[in-house]
Amino acid sequence: MMHTLNIARLSVRLAMGGAVAAIALMLLSVGGRPAQAEEVSKIAHGGKLYDKWYQISGGDIPRKTNASYPKAAKKKGKTTWRCKECHGWDYRGADGAYGNKKNSHYTGLKGIRGAAGKDPAKIIAILKGKAHGYTSDMLTDEEFDNLALFVSKGQVDMAKFIDASGKVKGNKGRGAGFYGTVCAGCHGLDGKKIKDMPPVGEVAGKNPWESLHKVMNGQPGEPMPALRAFPLDIAVDIVAYAATLPR
Ligand code: HEC
Ligand code: HEC
Repeated sequence: MMHTLNIARLSVRLAMGGAVAAIALMLLSVGGRPAQAEEVSKIAHGGKLYDKWYQISGGDIPRKTNASYPKAAKKKGKTTWRCKECHGWDYRGADGAYGNKKNSHYTGLKGIRGAAGKDPAKIIAILKGKAHGYTSDMLTDEEFDNLALFVSKGQVDMAKFIDASGKVKGNKGRGAGFYGTVCAGCHGLDGKKIKDMPPVGEVAGKNPWESLHKVMNGQPGEPMPALRAFPLDIAVDIVAYAATLPR
């Protein structure tokens, strides 16, 4: 009798313990959400730094051409310190658009796709190392962290959505709805409203990789939103539609 009672009590306790554990897990996962949201915005910040870090960082801007920038390539000075200038908007370096000798941004350097998933601390060490020469006078610890997060967790495998000729595999019809409601307020329905940049149709048509990067991460120093927290196909559809706008 005692024996069965104890077993009954024990099983009640176990069940209660399970319920407490489940509630704790639920609380943990609710508590986990803000952390995730914070990470998405850190990655988008890292993406803007990848685009043009010296536009948004208050740090020193180097004037000399980066020592790793290929002698035969065409750019000089601070622009050769932009990540995108060596590794490309498609992150694929020599395997992507910047591997084409006819491209005025040709570098033929290795891309960063291989560093996706890498420990951010190791990526920071690469950025501070010889091949790059970034210093704490140029970028803060937080900026290094976010750049590394972007490289490790934020890269899109663009080759899946944009073929070598620049054709975007997206749903233009759906993209038109997103463009009209999210982008047109600033850029105009025809993409020509902001006068000090080329028409959106020209940028997206000629360089869908750049456009996808900017739609995901925003434009450095401008209030343009980063769509990184939305499903990726929304950004792809927007770029597919934007490429059809007048040039
Ligand atoms: C002047 C050209 C240049 C610029 C600018 C540049 N890199 Fe690099 N990057 C290189 C070279 C060269 C390598 C070494 C490639 C190799 O190992 O052959 C490299 C390697 C890397 C790697 C390692 C890739 C791998 O798979 O091993 C990462 C990650 C990286 N760069 C990220 C960045 C980031 C982020 C920025 C901007 C903050 C940046 N790079 C700016 C030239 C550049
Ligand atoms: C709050 C206003 C705003 C919104 C909303 C906005 N943008 Fe922008 N966008 C800008 C500004 C400002 C620039 C920088 C213009 C410049 O360089 O003079 C810019 C730059 C760009 C560029 C790069 C142009 C270049 O040559 O560097 C592209 C492409 C672009 N936007 C596309 C879009 C798309 C697509 C959307 C919708 C997902 C969007 N933008 C939403 C304000 C906005």
